[in-house]
Amino acid sequence: MQIKSRIRTIAHYPHEGIMFRDITTLLKDAIGLRATIQEIAKRQKEVQIDKVAGIESRGFIIGAPVAYELGVGFVPIRKKGKLPAETRGRDYQLEYGSDRIEIHVDAIQKGDRVLLVDDLIATGGTAEAAAALIQEMGGEVVECCFVIDLPDIGGRSRLENQGLKVFALCEFE
Ligand code: PRP
Ligand code: ADE
Repeated sequence: MQIKSRIRTIAHYPHEGIMFRDITTLLKDAIGLRATIQEIAKRQKEVQIDKVAGIESRGFIIGAPVAYELGVGFVPIRKKGKLPAETRGRDYQLEYGSDRIEIHVDAIQKGDRVLLVDDLIATGGTAEAAAALIQEMGGEVVECCFVIDLPDIGGRSRLENQGLKVFALCEFE
């Protein structure tokens, strides 16, 4: 396993009871980083993608090189107050806490086929909010791609129940 074995688990971070899946050990490894980006990108090579959207902050680290590999542009979906131009936003619940994400109103054109990328799906709240923003702007979410799925928490089913396609490179129980 080139990818899963390079992800470190930190128990009780950032709160008691959370098993934090830490991708920094994957990212610092040349083989692991390359395999991660190529595995995600190769799925889309036969499919037309217009843009990759990545979710702050770990989704930027994965999403931008995937966009580069596919030869398409990258759209940042950021936490509240970080984007300088006019934005559209959504509030959402996290595995631990709540937050708001925003996207520039001119980031997605009507009809754009968008690949949504993040490092991890837990409850699916973040990705659901991001997908909704893209769809509100007239974009089509071709697939939601993650390095890690935590299936016990149910995010994948939550997205799939809304008709979204979901792919993850590995799972942690
Ligand atoms: C983490 C992770 C996902 C989200 C997954 O980001 O990178 O974006 O939580 O959780 P969910 O499926 O329950 O919504 P976080 O908000 O911790 O931000 P970070 O990437 O800046 O650490
Ligand atoms: N984001 C939400 N839940 C997480 C977890 N268990 N590990 C790493 N990032 C997360």
